[in-house]
Amino acid sequence: VLQLEDLVIHRDHRRKGYGARLLEHAISFAKDKKFLRITLLTDNLEATRPFYLKHGFVESTMRPMRYHVANAG
Ligand SMILES: CC(C)(COP(=O)(O)OP(=O)(O)OC[C@H]1O[C@@H](n2cnc3c(N)ncnc32)[C@H](O)[C@@H]1OP(=O)(O)O)[C@@H](O)C(=O)NCCC(=O)NCCS
Repeated sequence: VLQLEDLVIHRDHRRKGYGARLLEHAISFAKDKKFLRITLLTDNLEATRPFYLKHGFVESTMRPMRYHVANAG
C-alpha cells in the first residue's frame, strides 16, 4: 500500500497540470511496484475531491487515527 499525504501545489501555480503530473507519477510508481492500492490522506477533501475523483480515486469508509510516537521537534 502506498500512502499519499499532503499533496500541495503552491497556490500561485494551481490549475496548470502540476498536481496531475505528480499524482500520475505516484500512480504509475504504485502500478510498477504492483502495490494493491494507494491511500490518500488529506485535510482538505471537500475542496480537492473533484481533482481526486477525476484521477480515479474512490471514497473509502475508513478513517485514520494517529498515535504520535515522537514530537515533531
Ligand atoms: C489539489 C491540487 C493538488 C491540484 O493540483 P493542481 O496542479 O492545481 O491541479 P491540476 O492543474 O493538475 O488539475 C486541475 C484539475 O483538477 C480539478 N481541480 C483541481 N483543483 C480543484 C479545485 N479546487 N476545485 C475543483 N476542481 C479542481 C479540476 O478538474 C481541474 O481541471 P480544470 O482546471 O481544467 O478545471 C492543488 O489544487 C492543491 O495543492 N490544493 C490544495 C491542497 C491542500 O490544501 N491540501 C491540504 C493538505 S493535504
